[in-house]
Amino acid sequence: MRRAPRGILLIGLVLVGLAAFLAALVPLTNGVIEQWARRDVELRSELVVNSIRDRVEREMADRPEALGAFFERLTGDERILALGLCDPAGRMRVATARMPTGVDCRLEGSSLTPRFVRTRLAGERVLVGVFPIAGSNPASLVVLHELAFVADRIGEARWYLALLGFALLVGVGGVGTVLVLASQRRDMRALLTGLHELRAARPDRRPLMDPATREESREIRGLLRDFRETMRREDGSPVEWSPSTLQDLLEKELPDAEVFVVSNREPYIHNRVGDRIVVQRPASGLVSALEPVMRACGGVWVAHGSGSADRETVDAEDHVAVPPGKPAYRLRRVWISDEEQEGYYYGLANEGLWPLCHLAYVRPIFREADWQHYVAVNQRFADAVVREATRPDPVIMVQDYHFALLPRMIREQLPKATILTFWHIPWPNAEAFGICPWKEEIIAGLLGSTVLGFHTQAHCNNFFETVDRFMESRIDRDHRSVVFGGEETMVRPYPISIEWPPAALASQQPVEVCRAAVRERFGLPAEMRIGVGIERFDYTKGILDRLQAIDELLTRQPEWKGRFTFLQIVAPTRSKLASYTALQAEAIRITEEVNARHGREGYQPIHLVIRHHEPDEVYELFRAADVCVVSSLHDGMNLVAKEFVAARDDEQGALVLSRFAGASSELSEALIINPYDVQGMAEALGRALVMREDEQRERMRLMRAHVRERNVYRWAGQILLDASRLRKRQRVQEFEAAD
Ligand code: F6P
Repeated sequence: MRRAPRGILLIGLVLVGLAAFLAALVPLTNGVIEQWARRDVELRSELVVNSIRDRVEREMADRPEALGAFFERLTGDERILALGLCDPAGRMRVATARMPTGVDCRLEGSSLTPRFVRTRLAGERVLVGVFPIAGSNPASLVVLHELAFVADRIGEARWYLALLGFALLVGVGGVGTVLVLASQRRDMRALLTGLHELRAARPDRRPLMDPATREESREIRGLLRDFRETMRREDGSPVEWSPSTLQDLLEKELPDAEVFVVSNREPYIHNRVGDRIVVQRPASGLVSALEPVMRACGGVWVAHGSGSADRETVDAEDHVAVPPGKPAYRLRRVWISDEEQEGYYYGLANEGLWPLCHLAYVRPIFREADWQHYVAVNQRFADAVVREATRPDPVIMVQDYHFALLPRMIREQLPKATILTFWHIPWPNAEAFGICPWKEEIIAGLLGSTVLGFHTQAHCNNFFETVDRFMESRIDRDHRSVVFGGEETMVRPYPISIEWPPAALASQQPVEVCRAAVRERFGLPAEMRIGVGIERFDYTKGILDRLQAIDELLTRQPEWKGRFTFLQIVAPTRSKLASYTALQAEAIRITEEVNARHGREGYQPIHLVIRHHEPDEVYELFRAADVCVVSSLHDGMNLVAKEFVAARDDEQGALVLSRFAGASSELSEALIINPYDVQGMAEALGRALVMREDEQRERMRLMRAHVRERNVYRWAGQILLDASRLRKRQRVQEFEAAD
């Protein structure tokens, strides 16, 4: 046989083999997509149940009839066909119209995990999810989810596979033919000899592919890798999110973007102590989350310069490069007068919006003068950002309730900016938010954002409900967005997290060494069990309830006296406000009382330490502890819970976590408590103290895997990905408008 026909034959064989391989992939793809879609549906059902669980548990005892209408509204959404509530005997008590009779809603034994069954309803494929619901009388919620879309997904995947197969066949065939013809013409003996050698299974010393083919295959591999990457990011399954993933994402998805973060609290505070300048890292969840993101992305962080030496450390443009000694981004400080600080920060933000959004039963206070300062300071920050921007379309990440008006103020000056606002605290229901005298202005301000993020779906739902109640707007639940004044704002949950691995962990000693150091510092004997609580001294954190739970534990289980100590570490915060000073006084009083009641010479049940602790000290305490208690009465997320888990690379230690902290919907392996139930909290503490090591390990492993995977780079990545999608869509709309 001559070389060219032999080459053509070889290409033919390769093409047939490739076609057979692709055909064999089809059933495999069906299986994978089906599994993936099913998991997707299960997650959606869980999401829906988690976001309505509180309300259902509240109302099922008192007003079960009100749940009917509520369920009907939900079934318009997210491919949910029917919803129902069953009593403990498995009888359907409340159900929407399309709920078929005879659905088996019994729970399996005392199982706390949901049960899923696939079935058919009027010829339609559906998934039935049965979820346990707590309460005085444990019951179950039933969610019927349609599965018809799975067939569409499989169809789409087949179509893409066919397209890919066709492209591959044409590509391989074309390239092969060109090579064979070229070899015939120019006698590419090296290449053909290489192929020949391969056939004869001899070790090959020459490259099998010519540079062009190699380049092409690299490109195909790159495309496939990108495709897989996008799929993984989109369906949320594990991607190792790290600073470099985030940098890659910025480079690819938002090339040349100028990135800004705006927050009230600054990441580094310069304070004068005597004749020295000391840098302090504030006790702030927001800062712990955003700082690693800025270290990864670079850019400018605009914040209030609140330190006593802040003015001495900036340049003429009010900039300072941070982190000190290892600069990665610029901090632009904005100055606020004492009077403005009283009105904007202490007044409107912390006496008004903070208690308004946290249901901790502290009455919000709204003063007209505070509002005026709030407007003025928001405007000053907006102007500062606009002055810093060197392009018309920066990416601006606005943080928290201090800056509800900022998104619209920036939008008015930079209409092409991508404004990503994140609300770090809960958003209450419409009725609760409705008491705010400036609710319309605040909502309109937030709707100047391109994307508005909350920690949980429940907070997004509350926001939609509030907009619906008070604003002339269109809510598009399919796209999860609000159209207001002709502009669309996407409203999504982005559960915030921490960096992984945490920087503070790098300098830590082994757990035993940390434990010995902490014992020595507090004068504790070697066998003493240690509990910790570490946070800002805030009434939302449930500190008083926690101290009472310790009292309850020592009363009901006196065997712990002399064997268990609780280290309550609190960073002073907002101490000018009456609600905070009252809390501090009360915490000191209860501590003294408990210590007098249960303590004795050489044994102090509670150590209340009121001072700021730097991250290194916090991590050492976490590593020394047998149990960490987070008992927030209401909390957007609570990063202390995640930091405790991250600190325990020995996979030991138990976490007692409030169900009213956003973190509880992620860290379900913690001992979940209701902080209003002091006895329940005491029982959980007792249970944590006797938890076997293997159980601790199992729980800790799962929680650590979750925090590692869903770290803060993923949080920022998801927001930036959504932003890039919207930017692209905006560009297409601009093209269309120009045509
Ligand atoms: O929880 C909201 C929040 O802004 C957090 O991000 C942060 O931990 C805390 O409040 C900051 O409080 P402040 O800056 O008032 O001390």
